[in-house]
Amino acid sequence: MIVCNWKMFGNRFLVQGYVDMLTKLPYSQQEVVVCPPFPFLNLFPKHIVTGGQNCHQQDEGAFTGEVSAKMLQEMGCQYVLLGHSERRQYCGETHELVTQKAKVAMANHIKPIVCIGSKLDNEIDVQQDIHQQLSLVQSMDVIVAYEPLWAIGTDKVPSIQHIQNITAWIKTLGFNTVLYGGSVSYQNAAEIYKVCDGLLIGRAALDLDALSRIMDTVRT
Ligand code: PGA
Repeated sequence: MIVCNWKMFGNRFLVQGYVDMLTKLPYSQQEVVVCPPFPFLNLFPKHIVTGGQNCHQQDEGAFTGEVSAKMLQEMGCQYVLLGHSERRQYCGETHELVTQKAKVAMANHIKPIVCIGSKLDNEIDVQQDIHQQLSLVQSMDVIVAYEPLWAIGTDKVPSIQHIQNITAWIKTLGFNTVLYGGSVSYQNAAEIYKVCDGLLIGRAALDLDALSRIMDTVRT
């Protein structure tokens, strides 16, 4: 599974590039979830799987500027990214809030991709840190994306052994699907993909050439 997080980037040309690429073989056969900014969601045809980058914790209400899970569902989204580190950092999202959002998403048949991470890199410390973050969503059917905070947007990646150990450990807590995110590129994607269930890609997902190379390397 490859999840493309556009963040607040992209335009209609990128939408068209994605549509062209993901409609063609062999890319049309790979499991890709495109998470563009909200205004572009409606431009994707039904055969392309989309996700929101966030949703509100309530079904509807007087919350100017917010988007509900119900609206995402109406736009055909199957997934929603929740608790991305940028939302935790810039919008003050807490584990409790992310958990509430995950519940509302699931009630609207949207699968949450809950992002968790740590500032630390020692495995024991990381486990302690993310155990707290995961405990609230423990019994829920969510996808977990492990993103070390120091690896996002930095071109620094943990060792493959670290990614393997942490994702395997998250699975022992009962989560079936665990993705890795943070500076995934076509140079490292194949190795990382072997030790987890998928990739959450930021910058490289804004470059169709890089994305197609990633998709080529994880297929072979
Ligand atoms: P990056 O972003 O691939 O640019 O490091 C990943 C993310 O923020 O999910």
